[in-house]
Amino acid sequence: MATMASSHTFQPLLHRIAAEIESMPVRGRPADYIPALAACDPHRFGMAVAELDGTVYGVGDWRQPFSTQSVSKVFTLALDLALEGDTLWEHVGREPSGNPFNSLVQLEYENGIPRNPFINAGALVVTDRLHTRTGDAAGALLEFLRAESGNAGLAVDKGVAASESAHGDRNAALGHFMASYGNIGNPVPVLLDQYFRQCSIEASCADLALATGFLARHGVRADGTRLMTRSQAKQINAIMLTCGTYDAAGDFAYRVGLPGKSGVGGGIIAVVPGHCTLCVWGPGLDERGNSVTGVAALDRFTTLTGLSVF
Ligand code: DON
Repeated sequence: MATMASSHTFQPLLHRIAAEIESMPVRGRPADYIPALAACDPHRFGMAVAELDGTVYGVGDWRQPFSTQSVSKVFTLALDLALEGDTLWEHVGREPSGNPFNSLVQLEYENGIPRNPFINAGALVVTDRLHTRTGDAAGALLEFLRAESGNAGLAVDKGVAASESAHGDRNAALGHFMASYGNIGNPVPVLLDQYFRQCSIEASCADLALATGFLARHGVRADGTRLMTRSQAKQINAIMLTCGTYDAAGDFAYRVGLPGKSGVGGGIIAVVPGHCTLCVWGPGLDERGNSVTGVAALDRFTTLTGLSVF
């Protein structure tokens, strides 16, 4: 169970970072291709740090639920890899794409095998496989997030899911195209419904920092049981570092130096293996779909603390 501490070495640091973010002139723009997200105020900002034992520190809007979007892809990958093991890698690659998260361009000349599990095409493959194994991929994800965060109230925002579905032609195209190569097992409409529900789960910085803890504990869940091998946790952290922020992954590694995963809801999770996990939220995005204030805050965190994988 999480402890909400008010003073610790992390707490003054978080206040310092929040004050710096407050004075930032450039905050980006909320995602507008999902109308339900477009109304978010780019001046909102929250940040949470969770230690390995579940102690969590936060600042600003750190308890405010927001749309997890592509941050959810880390957890579906973890759940499927834990259940399926290495056969997953016959269906999705592990290389940075260098392309936007929703790009179709590589899929045809790479025979329907997406470059990595974090671009939309790869995430659709992972969700499809998790759905085959569990019968309810989004439900399995929600159950996992609730257990790890200790927040039984986590839920799908049905309005956001409906909005994604209504504007989901590109994801539908990706799904059908991969199905034509035999790389999708479920009917594409079933897969899309699961994927949109997965992306529309609302959670706060505190919830997501806690839920990411297994990656800092080398595969061990909040209750002390093991989700995956130490090696698999390392693999997911490595893919987050190289692919977690799409065509900005090089810049993110340069500035932040941690495995991280962004979503167009403005959230970013990050891992300091063996030490702590972070989640930041700022709804203003840069042109590559990553939170402007979120990346800046993580950049400041690793600079000020020296906590990095490098
Ligand atoms: O597939 C989509 O368009 C969204 N549900 C998720 C995209 C997303 O968050 C990309 N990340 N930056």
